[in-house]
Amino acid sequence: MTNPVHSNPDGQAVIDSPRDEPPADLTYFAFTPSEKPEPARVLTSAGLSAMPDILANRYRIERLLGAGGMGAVYRARDLLAEQYGDPDPYVALKVLNPDFVESPDASAVLYSEFCLTRYLRHDNVLRVHGFHVDTSCQRAFITMELMRGLTLDKMLCERPLGLPWKELREIVLPLLDALAYAHARGVVHGDIKPSNIMLSEEGVRLFDFGLGQAEEGILSGLPHLSRERFNAWTPGYAAPELLEHHSLTARTDIYAVACVIYELASGKHPFRHLTSTQARDKHLDCGLRVPACLPNPCWPALQTALAFDAGARAITAGQMRHAFTSPSSWPWGGKIRKPW
Ligand SMILES: Nc1ncnc2c1ncn2[C@@H]1O[C@H](COP(=O)(O)OP(=O)(O)OP(=O)(O)O)[C@@H](O)[C@H]1O
Ligand SMILES: [Mg+2]
Repeated sequence: MTNPVHSNPDGQAVIDSPRDEPPADLTYFAFTPSEKPEPARVLTSAGLSAMPDILANRYRIERLLGAGGMGAVYRARDLLAEQYGDPDPYVALKVLNPDFVESPDASAVLYSEFCLTRYLRHDNVLRVHGFHVDTSCQRAFITMELMRGLTLDKMLCERPLGLPWKELREIVLPLLDALAYAHARGVVHGDIKPSNIMLSEEGVRLFDFGLGQAEEGILSGLPHLSRERFNAWTPGYAAPELLEHHSLTARTDIYAVACVIYELASGKHPFRHLTSTQARDKHLDCGLRVPACLPNPCWPALQTALAFDAGARAITAGQMRHAFTSPSSWPWGGKIRKPW
């Protein structure tokens, strides 16, 4: 599918007019030309050669695990760890897509992803090991825990009707835990969607903080991405304020995680994978129904989290977690009747 993002005559990133077809679950990146001096580049596409078999004399690439809008992730064997007899010398390794390396912000985005993820130490957040540059092929890369399991988008393909309450809760509670923790540490993820959440052998993992942002004063030396020059989002999960170029807040993540939870509960995206602004224009929120497997008292919390207006989306990840932990004690819970 074609990228709906292009530049208007002012050089601003804009989205094409609403269409009914569902957009792909890929992150779109939009760059606008900079008039300011550009940050130092570690890499340029001119110096970029094909991926070698071994990176930084240490990581042997074995196979591609997945690719997204920004990078490709490979399974690799850490030859040094292997030499020392490590019984599990495997890692995952993320490099930037060659197209993306063209951007002056590219290596800063990758470094920011590494730094934000490392800052979050939580059982349900992916663990990163290191940030490296292979000087011979001019590529920066992150090494991280190799997750073995299924991302939620793949899991949803196998479970088109959604999950029963018990299974749903086993994913939703750790996911909301991870999000509440990140927000409490002052970090917003910025691109929550099923393909950035893994149900691994070791439990739920939230990953891909490439579009994440830390609050003012946190990790202050880290280059902050300028959303005037760089904008990115995944159409079906980006809240209206993100599409309308307002600043990213914890509530932006709340909208996205609510879409994911609704999808897990019903097998369907709440707004047919339309962008939130298209769904808002069509008043699709009025037609939302409680997914059948969801206990009624969870619904007001989920519905609040799905509000298009950030001001009305007045719920935190911790409050959502509480509603899903003990639905009967949720203050807005009470008894609501399903409309059928
Ligand atoms: N540590 C890991 N272990 C195993 N598989 C992984 C790991 N990290 C990423 N993957 C796989 O690679 C895919 C792409 O990774 P990632 O989301 O980091 O790339 P991206 O280019 O930032 O994607 P996006 O389109 O969301 O921007 C994931 O959806 C997942 O299937
Ligand atoms: Mg991703």
